[in-house]
Amino acid sequence: MLASGQGSNFEALVAACRSQHLNAQVVLLVVNNPGCGAEQRAARLGIPCQRINHRDHPNRASLDSALISACQQAQVDLVVMAGWMRIVTPLLVEAYPDRLLNIHPSLLPSFRGLDAVGQALAAGVQLTGCTAHLVRPEVDAGPVLVQAAVAVLAGDDHRSLSARIQRQEHRILPLAVALAAARLAG
Ligand code: GRF
Repeated sequence: MLASGQGSNFEALVAACRSQHLNAQVVLLVVNNPGCGAEQRAARLGIPCQRINHRDHPNRASLDSALISACQQAQVDLVVMAGWMRIVTPLLVEAYPDRLLNIHPSLLPSFRGLDAVGQALAAGVQLTGCTAHLVRPEVDAGPVLVQAAVAVLAGDDHRSLSARIQRQEHRILPLAVALAAARLAG
């Protein structure tokens, strides 16, 4: 798994594996922000964590090459971007064809890119949600695996809406991993 921030999706996926709701194992977390919440969660959960800091790399391709090496060394079958706040290059997408997943806090194709929750609030939609999808070189595009809809309630602010969307992310991400695996098998 790749994470840049709090790591709540990372923890949710680990929990799904450990409770055997998902027949998978999280073997490695890669973080790009030293000391981020995800890194702290990995220490608490006993999941190996590697720092690959984009600030140490001259460009995106160099960062992605380091990610590929780490994933290959860990012999992973799937790579899950769980709040990985870097744009990936075709290098990574092509190294893990149909094996690279992302979770995004909107009903794609609406509100791609940064601050999807803020975009939804600004647009005044009554329904938004989250999407788990396979990654293609274009940002926040690629075949949808699972979506969950979340109503925007009167009085919602960024924090309250984000929190409800995140609860749904934690629910759909394990489903998306199972679907991606089934898709490869079948
Ligand atoms: C999630 O809302 C995800 O949709 C977005 O980044 C956030 C990560 O949250 N891509 P967390 O680090 O898993 O708590």
